[in-house]
Amino acid sequence: MKQYQDKQFLEQIQNYIGHLAYTHEPEDLYKPIEYVLGLGGKRIRPILMLMAYNLYKDDIESILSQAAAIETYHNFTLLHDDLMDNADLRRNRPTVHKKWNENTAILSGDTMLILSYQMMINSCPSEYVGKVMETFGKAALEVCEGQQWDMDFETRLDVSADEYMKMICLKTSVLLAASLKIGAILGGASCEDANLIYDFGIRMGLAFQLQDDYLDVYADPNVFGKNIGGDICSNKKTYMLITALEKTEGNEKNELLYWLNAKTFDPAEKIKAVTDIYNNIGVPEICLKKINTLYDEGLEILDKVSVADYLKDNLRKFTGKLMNRSL
Ligand code: IPE
Ligand code: IPE
Ligand code: MG
Ligand code: MG
Ligand code: MG
Repeated sequence: MKQYQDKQFLEQIQNYIGHLAYTHEPEDLYKPIEYVLGLGGKRIRPILMLMAYNLYKDDIESILSQAAAIETYHNFTLLHDDLMDNADLRRNRPTVHKKWNENTAILSGDTMLILSYQMMINSCPSEYVGKVMETFGKAALEVCEGQQWDMDFETRLDVSADEYMKMICLKTSVLLAASLKIGAILGGASCEDANLIYDFGIRMGLAFQLQDDYLDVYADPNVFGKNIGGDICSNKKTYMLITALEKTEGNEKNELLYWLNAKTFDPAEKIKAVTDIYNNIGVPEICLKKINTLYDEGLEILDKVSVADYLKDNLRKFTGKLMNRSL
């Protein structure tokens, strides 16, 4: 069976998304969609879908509508997420609610959600429609649940690491896992394989979100494409903050609580103070260790998928690169 190089998966997706027509009126509804999808992004979810499909079949061009659907859904979540997180920058460019306005981010986002369902069902072989839409619908709903937990946690100080893991599983992992599972289903995988591939995606998604939270503090801002320290400013209960709340005591704990309770503050000052606390107590190392453990667990699950081992190399290589991402 033909195996593609990892850049070929990306090329196929870019080409397909680049040819989607957004020439409809009203412009203020469709232009933001073209804008956000045209800004690039890593295209992780569609690449994972095509790679999972390629474990079983090699005509990857036949599922590009489903791959574009998952990317469109993801970009819908970004429009709403940036509004909810009050984020000004995405992929090094102004976010849609900054470039246009908040109503535009809401309605263009809603439109992308609808488009994603249309694309997911479009040219989907009838024998797989049920399973594909069930998997997609479940993940799409769970992402919203995760986003609500994420917002709820901002105003709580007693969020446990366990609660955090459940929240990021919902807001991030399930979509990576569903992308992989849909690829496997469309490739004709057994139920057992499709579920193993899903579980592999869950572990990779957890590691990925932990790393995203890490990069929100420690990335090079020019590469990351998002403002650094946004999570600290909005008191996001990341694994790093939860660890810091657990590990600090005395003056250091009081300082951390001071910043978490401060109603008005200079963002740069708060980011520096909280980051200094993280550094003093070894939070980055603890976080990176957790990322590696989850990544290794994911690879062990992938090993169990019942296709020839060499076919899994693309997924191993791609997820390996993801773990070293800088954007
Ligand atoms: C951003 O996702 C949202 C998270 C789940 C962390 P990506 O990091 O995949 O964003 P793009 O699509 O590459 O910009
Ligand atoms: C990502 O969480 C979850 C979704 C977009 C659903 P973040 O809020 O951490 O994502 P970024 O950092 O803004 O990309
Ligand atoms: Mg955000
Ligand atoms: Mg968010
Ligand atoms: Mg983030």
